[in-house]
Amino acid sequence: MKALIVGGSGFVGGYLAQDLKKVGWSVAMTMLSSEKAPEGHDVYPLNILEQAQIADILRCLCPDVIFHLAAQSSVGLSWKNPALTVDVNIKGAVNLLEAVREIPDYQPRILLIGSGEEYGYVLPEEVPVSENIKVRPGNLYAATKVAQNLIGNIYAKAYGMPIVMVRAFNHIGAGQKTGFVVADFCKQVAEVEAGLREPVIQVGNLSARRDFTDVRDVVRAYRLLAEKGKSGETYNVGSGHAVGIDELLAQILSLSEAKIRVEVDAKRLRPIDIPVIEADIAKLKGHTGWKPEIPLRETLQWTLQFWRKNPEIFR
Ligand code: GDD
Repeated sequence: MKALIVGGSGFVGGYLAQDLKKVGWSVAMTMLSSEKAPEGHDVYPLNILEQAQIADILRCLCPDVIFHLAAQSSVGLSWKNPALTVDVNIKGAVNLLEAVREIPDYQPRILLIGSGEEYGYVLPEEVPVSENIKVRPGNLYAATKVAQNLIGNIYAKAYGMPIVMVRAFNHIGAGQKTGFVVADFCKQVAEVEAGLREPVIQVGNLSARRDFTDVRDVVRAYRLLAEKGKSGETYNVGSGHAVGIDELLAQILSLSEAKIRVEVDAKRLRPIDIPVIEADIAKLKGHTGWKPEIPLRETLQWTLQFWRKNPEIFR
């Protein structure tokens, strides 16, 4: 199988490429020309806002499967830069689908990666959330991912394109940038341990509950969905268990010998923060046989270890 990962330079792309190669797929990826290409990968420069560039790459490679990861993926940043989020997440998806349509008789499998945030204001009786409940997005980022999901459905129905939609819940691990809660917390703990900051950790809203999965489990789910997911359908990818951000912080702090004080930083609080997001993963399990394998504590340990080795990066 030949895969193209559109937007391969982010946190998930490298792990997905590794997973696919491990089972014998050939893999190419795209990234912005301004980004540094990782070694050992077949990389094509691409700005997702340029449909003609996408079509050129597709004509040249003709991948069997396209994983669409290119996105503005930070909820926090979407409050600060809504226009960029709309452009990349909505226009980018349409450009990709139109570029595929431009090529006669070309029917690649396409995975559109959306988000658990799409569910938004979930009612207590709807938790854990299954794919068919009403979505009520509570932020700009989530709204763009809802739009992408609707667009994917329309293209699948109208043009018979084999598109599978994913709603990925929080995924974490080594290499994730700051701006996401586990990276933010682990980086600060590593800095305290290295004597680079006072023994105080700045946090945002600790009362929310989120569903965290190790990125290596997540990319395995993406591969299985590319192989076995039904066209025109949406699948949740998550652990199936929500954890309080306060519990998450306690677990991270318990992995360190340092005595660290916790301080709420008002800049980290969001205008709206959905209280609980937890996935029902019965459909994914039923259609693919996937289940999460890596325990949360092991992922936190791995991520903290990454920051201990790299306290200076992503400053
Ligand atoms: N980032 C961050 N930094 N979040 C914090 C902090 C902090 O210091 N302190 C508390 N939080 C809270 C946030 O308010 C939120 O309730 C929760 O921790 C998780 O925040 P993020 O890690 O930023 O993730 P997210 O849930 O907003 O979005 C992530 O998950 C989505 C799927 O559910 C992202 O990975 C999205 O791309 C993804 O689609």
